[in-house]
Amino acid sequence: FHSHFIESVQPLIELIDSLRMIALDKEIDLPSIAVVGDQSSGKSSVLEALSGVPLPRGSGIVTRCPLELKLRKLKKGPWTGTITYRDYNETFHDALMVDNLVREAQNKLAGNTVGICDELISLEISSTDVCDLTLIDLPGITRVPVHGQPDDIGDQIKNLILKYIAKSETIILAVVPCNVDIATTEALRMAQDTDPDGHRTLAILTKPDLIDRGAETDVLNIVHGKVIPLSKGFIIVRCRGQSDINNKIPLSKAMEMEMSFFKNHRYFSSLLNGKASTRCLADNLTKELVDHIKKSLPYLTEQIQTKLLNVQRELKNYEQGPPVKEELMGPFLSDIIMEFTDQIYEMSRTGHLRDKN
Ligand code: GDP
Ligand code: NA
Ligand code: MG
Repeated sequence: FHSHFIESVQPLIELIDSLRMIALDKEIDLPSIAVVGDQSSGKSSVLEALSGVPLPRGSGIVTRCPLELKLRKLKKGPWTGTITYRDYNETFHDALMVDNLVREAQNKLAGNTVGICDELISLEISSTDVCDLTLIDLPGITRVPVHGQPDDIGDQIKNLILKYIAKSETIILAVVPCNVDIATTEALRMAQDTDPDGHRTLAILTKPDLIDRGAETDVLNIVHGKVIPLSKGFIIVRCRGQSDINNKIPLSKAMEMEMSFFKNHRYFSSLLNGKASTRCLADNLTKELVDHIKKSLPYLTEQIQTKLLNVQRELKNYEQGPPVKEELMGPFLSDIIMEFTDQIYEMSRTGHLRDKN
């Protein structure tokens, strides 16, 4: 990234992050990128490649809580990570600690086994080697519960994913492996259901090295948008496979291997011009997120102003304190008691306080 680019991008992303920090995302929807895909489609691998940070991976359900990954590019300074969830907060300087800290957080929030939870874990990484992005990793879509999981785990996960991707402020990153029937994957179906025009869906094709012989042209047609129309299109990436991980291939080396994989590929070398590689994905995503934030700002301002007005109106009710005239004291007291009763009723019914606005 050129530095003038960083300067124009960072303030926008930081603005949104600081709004999220004061928990404004509980009140209004903030622009973000959510990663959606089947279990083992390669979501964590893509995030790893984008962040340069080894994340918890493996077979089965590894991501069990939404994980917000805030990447901040530094001009200089040491690698710094901060993990935040509930009232816990820890800052550290060793990227290799991420895996354990995230697993520990998930165990605390979602239990030690295979359950999921919708509480957010936030991981901020500041480094000279990352791009400016905020992404949310979500549990992978599954159909069949494993031992210890409730029968409706599939629905629980889908509902959790929907909570994020249904918002018009969310860019949907649909991760789909090349070695399956791409057009019929659940991730793309969910994206299409919530974003029928495909205006905020970007699809990532993973595992191009595992394509069946003869299926390359089909994949090529998909990347070129000839099969599934998405206005943000498709990008194909090659991440570390299990054997690369077993051989301890570092992420930086994996990026080089990815470039030479595409350069030397009989069918895919032409895609290096804007449709292939992690590098290209990172550039594209940052641009998309910034465009998206710019577009959302007027609406964001409007929503904040409405909330503010409502709160100010409510505040006005309490301006004068309790009435001094004796005949107003009874009605004043009964209003407060009624309001209180309503809230207790609402809480016992829904478990939440009613949003008065
Ligand atoms: P997730 O469950 O969606 O987060 O998937 P993971 O990122 O954990 O990946 C699942 C498996 O696929 C892991 O063993 C990865 O090493 C492997 N994998 C991911 N991307 C690629 C790729 O581009 N090529 C190959 N060969 N394997 C990959
Ligand atoms: Na997995
Ligand atoms: Mg994962």
